[in-house]
Amino acid sequence: MSDARDAAAPPPTETPFVALGGEARVRRLVERFYDAMSADEPALARLHPCDPDGAVAREPRDRFALFFIGWLGGPQDYVAQHGHPRLRMRHGRVAVDTAMRDAWLRAMATAMDAEGVDGWVRGFLDARLAEVADFLRNVPG
Ligand code: HEM
Repeated sequence: MSDARDAAAPPPTETPFVALGGEARVRRLVERFYDAMSADEPALARLHPCDPDGAVAREPRDRFALFFIGWLGGPQDYVAQHGHPRLRMRHGRVAVDTAMRDAWLRAMATAMDAEGVDGWVRGFLDARLAEVADFLRNVPG
């Protein structure tokens, strides 16, 4: 959308999930995210299970997609299947420093640009994902 509502606060009933257009669009966004990570951020991609060609594998893509759908206010299948996300604990085996945080956020920004995510939901995602990524830092530097 490019009308005046873009900059306005969301109506109370509209979740980010709905604003993005639902599950198919969120899954497309996640595919673009891991494609961008695989192509542009090899050090970050290599922390994930990868296919022989170096691209992030199907399983981590699907786990994150399921989480992201719920985190955005959509169906809560991730929690039903895997329990509370415990994101800091689940990232404990990975050294997350500012370089990895920024690489993650760059790949997500590339994906959102490619998918044309704009308006209030883009502002929401830019701000909240930056907070979550920073919260996951677990080593200095
Ligand atoms: C800040 C930099 C980040 C790094 C370096 C990172 C890295 C990773 C790695 C290596 C995995 C494991 C993949 C696997 O073994 O299957 C993973 C999983 C995951 N990440 Fe991240 N991540 C980052 C940020 C984030 C953020 C900001 C979120 C949420 C908004 C997130 C959500 C998840 C989820 C939900 C999983 C799957 C957990 C599970 O079900 O086991 N990550 N991440």
